[in-house]
Amino acid sequence: MPLTVTPLTPVFCAEITGVDITKPLDDATFAKIRSAFDNHSILIFPDQPMNDAQQIAFSERFGQIERSGGVNPGAGTSFSRQSNIDIKTGAVIPKDDRRMFYQKANMLWHADSTFKPVTSLCSILSAREIPPVGGATEFASTRAAYEELSDAEKAELEGLIVEHDFIYSRGLVGFTFTPEETAKFPPVRHRLVRTNKNTGRKSVLVGAHAKCIVGWPEDRSRALLDGLLACAEKPENSFRHEWRDGDVVVWDNQAAVHRATPYDTERYRRVMERTTITFGGAPEFPVGTRTAARA
Ligand code: OGA
Ligand code: MN
Repeated sequence: MPLTVTPLTPVFCAEITGVDITKPLDDATFAKIRSAFDNHSILIFPDQPMNDAQQIAFSERFGQIERSGGVNPGAGTSFSRQSNIDIKTGAVIPKDDRRMFYQKANMLWHADSTFKPVTSLCSILSAREIPPVGGATEFASTRAAYEELSDAEKAELEGLIVEHDFIYSRGLVGFTFTPEETAKFPPVRHRLVRTNKNTGRKSVLVGAHAKCIVGWPEDRSRALLDGLLACAEKPENSFRHEWRDGDVVVWDNQAAVHRATPYDTERYRRVMERTTITFGGAPEFPVGTRTAARA
């Protein structure tokens, strides 16, 4: 069967069949996958159960894999793990454990690694164990949010710089950090408007980590960032993926945001392994000092 790209909505998301991504891919095949990624932002590959080595090999076709850091259980490896299972003991992590609390932040719309000096091109999440109900992942198109703007609004956005801040976003869900931890995550700056180099289509870098527009008063800044996210979230610009065993999903961290949804973490097991591909190159701006939140 030839590689087939089936769009799932008129705006974004496509299912890819007729290819085995657990095996090495020739350049012509990968070019079709990359082109589908640039055009549809989210690619869903059903029935591709993979191990770590296979996921790394597939991921490296997109670029360099980030080393995960911070508070994720996969810190220091090529993987970020979304799971309620303690990988060392195999036991379910209690609900009130700090590690589960951290995962709650995943339920805010976000793009991965926007709080890093160099953002991410895409993430690849493979379903290793899924709960029978719940635990879907939702996606929203920040490309659609940009494209729905008027020409005047697009012009206004063009030069804007957005500050992303991990300490700020985790604060939204009540997470507190030690001064040592805080020092590890200084705020970073990125251009708000992103351009896909292969399609020329533009999007905006918003989501939970986006704290403010540099130089704007807090209320105007918040209204812009919230308005863009609200547009991305509209039913026609978003998509909910219910995981099946062995699904692999690739999402664009420049053109979309995503969020986790709840499941019964004390009853069911969920193990998802994520690789994250860096956008590459130098940071867009030097890592600066934290912009105080203004009333
Ligand atoms: C992630 C993420 C959502 C989920 O892996 O970056 O946000 O549903 N996952 O696990
Ligand atoms: Mn994420």
